[in-house]
Amino acid sequence: MEAHPDIQTTQKGFRCTLCDVNLPNGPTVDAHVKGRKHQNLFRLRATRKEQVQNSVFVSGIKPNTLSTHLINYFQQFGPVEDVIMDKEKGSYAIVEFEEQASVSAVLQRSEHVMNGLKLRIKQRESKEFKVVLKRKQDAKNAHVNLDALSQELCRAASVNEQMLRVVESFQLNENERNGRELLVKLLQEVFTEFLPDCEIHPFGSTVNTFGVHSCDMDLFLDLEKTRSFQARSKTSSEQPGEGQSEDARSEDSILSDIDLSTATAAEVLELVAAVLRKCVPGVHKVQPLPTARLPVVKFSHRNLNLHGDITIKNRLALRNTRFLQLCSELDSRLRPLVFTVRFWAKQKQLAGNPFGGGPLLNNYALTLMVMFFLQNRSPPVLPSVDQLKNMACEEEECVIEGWDCTFPSQAIAVPPSKNTEDLCTLLAAFFSFYATFDFSASVLSVREARPVPITSFLPPAAPQSDGARAPKPPAGPRLGHMTVLDPFELRHNVAGNLSERTLKSFQRECADAEKYCRSLQYQRKSAKGKSWGLVRLFAPRCPTVPGAGGKPGEGKERRLELSVPFRLAALPDAVQRQLGTAGERFREQWFAMVRVALERVFQEVLGCSPAQEEEFEGQMDTSASSDTVAMDTAKAEEASRGGDQSEAAAAAPSCSSADASFDSVTSPQAGQKRAFTSVETSPASPQEKRRRLCPAEEEEEEGADGAPSASWCWVQRHPVWAGRRKVRRDLLKARGDSDAGACQPEGGGVAMELLVTRHITAKQPDPHDLVAFKVGADVVGGSENTRAVLRFTPLCDHKGHFQDFFHFLEIFLPKTTEAFLGK
Ligand code: UTP
Repeated sequence: MEAHPDIQTTQKGFRCTLCDVNLPNGPTVDAHVKGRKHQNLFRLRATRKEQVQNSVFVSGIKPNTLSTHLINYFQQFGPVEDVIMDKEKGSYAIVEFEEQASVSAVLQRSEHVMNGLKLRIKQRESKEFKVVLKRKQDAKNAHVNLDALSQELCRAASVNEQMLRVVESFQLNENERNGRELLVKLLQEVFTEFLPDCEIHPFGSTVNTFGVHSCDMDLFLDLEKTRSFQARSKTSSEQPGEGQSEDARSEDSILSDIDLSTATAAEVLELVAAVLRKCVPGVHKVQPLPTARLPVVKFSHRNLNLHGDITIKNRLALRNTRFLQLCSELDSRLRPLVFTVRFWAKQKQLAGNPFGGGPLLNNYALTLMVMFFLQNRSPPVLPSVDQLKNMACEEEECVIEGWDCTFPSQAIAVPPSKNTEDLCTLLAAFFSFYATFDFSASVLSVREARPVPITSFLPPAAPQSDGARAPKPPAGPRLGHMTVLDPFELRHNVAGNLSERTLKSFQRECADAEKYCRSLQYQRKSAKGKSWGLVRLFAPRCPTVPGAGGKPGEGKERRLELSVPFRLAALPDAVQRQLGTAGERFREQWFAMVRVALERVFQEVLGCSPAQEEEFEGQMDTSASSDTVAMDTAKAEEASRGGDQSEAAAAAPSCSSADASFDSVTSPQAGQKRAFTSVETSPASPQEKRRRLCPAEEEEEEGADGAPSASWCWVQRHPVWAGRRKVRRDLLKARGDSDAGACQPEGGGVAMELLVTRHITAKQPDPHDLVAFKVGADVVGGSENTRAVLRFTPLCDHKGHFQDFFHFLEIFLPKTTEAFLGK
């Protein structure tokens, strides 16, 4: 182990004083010192040291001194790198030079006078470089809060009371509200100085009644009047001496640096960031994000302990904030429900993307979901936005960016709800409502207060034969795994960022919560002081092992079932249009495509061979010899090498191309290429293919309820699931893919998956592993999620591989099938 200046020997081993961590032995010390964290801090410390050495501390300046004044004065000693002003009192500053020699030059001069003012200057003091381990501290605090909350909730008399206590515990208190109000006033003052006539408005949780301690502070900087001001000033400056305002003439006005009528959002945000950095006391960590969906400047405030976002383009958000305020006033049950659901969602890691965008639900979407649920109670707790619009008077009409945002300004204009359900019942009903909500077939519309079929948002069908060009369809919302329409901007899906995984977790957590809400533990206070009601509901999410039971002795029987969800957004445009005109038959048509895709995944991508169920009769019980199956598979392979064309196509894993990228894959059986035909061009093709694949099976199957279904039998002779990730990574590396380390997702690219299978099977020219299984498929939908449910039955599994194979298919099959459907 080498000697390091930051490593100390301790009784238990070593300690890195720079990173504040204990290390058990020499090798870990070496690894730590070479590691990213230590290296980053090491560099940071060196930079800080250099900055200190290159800086002087200047005092005796006036509070209104600007950094430009200091730069102008000090650059006579050498190039100035930065000036840090004391924003609180404005009485000192730190001037950093590019070179240390400039500091010596400054210190050599005995007297410094700037703008008639005598300055006091000394070398900047060096402070010990310390790392603040903030995250650990935050986690500790959050934990303490949860413990305290649990105790408090257990003392409540009912779930209703618990929900009210949740509001009390989390809502912004008076101090916080006052602090935020003061900050808004201060920002208004500062910004007005630089951007005359601008207006700064808070929106979102700070003012919409759903704010919690330390919630983000969203601000909209309205520069419309500033633009007019600038335009007026320009005109008057062309006629010198007339009507020119003080602000516009002032040499400090940054308005002279920018033309707001032509400036880009990025330029304006830079300006806003500069004002925040230099002129607002307590503000730090200022960061403009000009490329975000809504460009913002992020900042933090030390004393108020908050993060803020300033946007310059978000007038609709002001209106939807007022709308949420109104809804809170309309029914007092909304706030406790939203607070409870938000906290539950946070605990279950379903909501609260740390940096805005992300795969989880955002708070605004979650609030709209609670409102949508309340609109759908019988009788409704909240009216629809359309109903509210009709209750508004003429003066309340409001259109923003072309969207109708009309609703009454006073809650008194809206008749109270006839619904009398209590909070406890509503919360349980919320979970039940969303546990089974068909997100794949319906869009949540708070505007209409009803689930709107997803097919209503599909683009109109393309023109048929006359060749006339269809008019460009109006842009609809971005349909996602979950689509929650904004109440006003009807093209905006507020849950568009949600990942499939989060949606699945959301519905699973809702189902678990619904089940729990039916228990006595939810409804009744424990006489023995045990946790009850919301406390158990708020238990943080624990990772679950698939197929394992929640508690010892509660092992759930594992069902060999998986599903391929209907996801409109994943289908090609032409198919989307076709399904759009299919009405209720869209499920049938979609399922026909899924069947084709499934066959191709099993046969082509995974190299399974078709078989007949009878061949394996009794094998799962009697462990008969595997030779029978091996022989049949061999027969299939022989058929594929020559002889009967249709039999060959049916029996051998083909190497056809599913898309253009497939062309890059060299096919050893190029003669057997088979084009992928969707039902659009050949509606009969799925059945046709199935006939070729499984001649003994019925051509078209129907489930008991008349819904279409299908079934196949397959034999897998290679362990295509084993070591797949490594093979994929190696192939990507060999292809020169620099991202190979990150690795493609399982089942991501069809062509790559086909190659991976080939590599695995090529290593075993004489396979002896064997799994035979039956797959039954049904489409389920209606009030449930539309999806193809696949049930697996092992027919032959001598070496006990089936579980592993199935486990692999759980992720691989839906993804790869979807990839085929997307072609
Ligand atoms: P947030 O999702 O941040 O909600 O959106 P919040 O209630 O402020 O919660 P915190 O800040 O996470 O605690 C903030 C505001 O941004 C607007 C809405 O006005 C919302 O209240 N917004 C957000 C939209 O207009 N559209 C969106 O898609 C998201």
